[in-house]
Amino acid sequence: MAGAGLEARATAGRETGSTGRERTGATQSLPLQWNEPIQSHLNRGFILFLLFLESTSTMAEPAIPTPPARVLSGMRPTGKLHLGNYMGALANWVRLQDQYECYFFIADWHALTTDYADPSQIAPNSIEVMLDYLAAGLDSEKSVLFLQSKVLEHAELALLLGMSTPLGWLERVPSYKEMQENLTGKDLTTYGFLGYPVLMASDILLYQADFVPVGQDQQAHVELTREVARRFNQFYRPPVRSEADMLPALEGKVVLPEPKVLLTPSPKLPGTDGRKMSKSYGNTILMSDPEPVVRQKLKTMVTDPARIRRTDPGDPDKCPVGDLHKVFSTPETMAKVYEGCRSAGIGCIECKGWAADSLMKVLQPIQDRRAQFTEPRVIEILEDGSRRARARAEQTMIEVRAAMQMTLATEKERVSK
Ligand code: TRP
Ligand code: SF4
Repeated sequence: MAGAGLEARATAGRETGSTGRERTGATQSLPLQWNEPIQSHLNRGFILFLLFLESTSTMAEPAIPTPPARVLSGMRPTGKLHLGNYMGALANWVRLQDQYECYFFIADWHALTTDYADPSQIAPNSIEVMLDYLAAGLDSEKSVLFLQSKVLEHAELALLLGMSTPLGWLERVPSYKEMQENLTGKDLTTYGFLGYPVLMASDILLYQADFVPVGQDQQAHVELTREVARRFNQFYRPPVRSEADMLPALEGKVVLPEPKVLLTPSPKLPGTDGRKMSKSYGNTILMSDPEPVVRQKLKTMVTDPARIRRTDPGDPDKCPVGDLHKVFSTPETMAKVYEGCRSAGIGCIECKGWAADSLMKVLQPIQDRRAQFTEPRVIEILEDGSRRARARAEQTMIEVRAAMQMTLATEKERVSK
């Protein structure tokens, strides 16, 4: 039996390069392909058997490069993305996709936790957000770009994780009470809203992600994800063929590894009113704002309050426009701003014009890229990415179902033989 299994495994290895995660070392950009042909020919139990062999046999294959770590992150589709989203997340994701096996998605079910009473904007916003992802430079050839609601395994894992997640953990999440108090127009005393972090944990654990690049506001959620995983792993061990086969290599292996936060360093980015740029303040500059709109928004932007008249000197360190310069302008422009502002040699209008120039240097290529994608193409990318995500998610779910003994005897037999 073991011989047959090994033979099958070797065949799979020949055809696909390798199995499981190792394969991704060879073909980084298409992490799921190997699974698709196998899955259509073989049943789940057999795949689990292959996975099992993979995890128990050591050094059966010639040196395989260590697979790149897996990264996952997502955003709720609440509307077009702004410069703060770009600088605080997307620009970093774009860099990550060259080093890691990346999964980036649109959390449309998460949007539903607050917008369930009127879901009409979620689907159109999902398209807009994916357009912003693509405009920023996320590449469907390098990363798996997908829509949460098209991968039903997110719901299955969330349900299973919900079984063991204590209510107290959810009630204590800082954003829970806060959001309930802030979004006064909405009734958020719902099961779905309380379960937001469980769904988020399932998003992450479903891909057995190593790293989750998020801003500080999401850190508590990732911490909770780690605790949810730890608790799961305490209750449920990975499936094994038999005790005798339990090799040291399997000791300590868990079904749901704890992900790490990859804290995104985000520069201080003020909105037009001088407060942090945020959709809820209505002070944003959108990634897709055309140049005249960017210039107009900057014109209305608040400045150093000390500069009342043109002749009053100011200080870029006390001015939100100065903060924008620090993020977007060259050292030469910065020098002109410091000198001109402090000596009242320039007016704020001129200074804001330079800021707009610097912003457009970043935004123009983004907008040019955006213009290359039609809506049908975006939908195609989402469908294809979701298909790849499902294939990867299914691998985890096979382990999760087996560990939780949610497996029929016929499937189990194949696992335990
Ligand atoms: N909660 C995140 C936000 O509001 C969105 C999100 C959902 C997410 N699932 C995730 C982020 C998983 C990272 C990983 O921005
Ligand atoms: Fe701000 Fe520029 Fe005006 Fe100085 S000159 S106060 S930096 S806008």
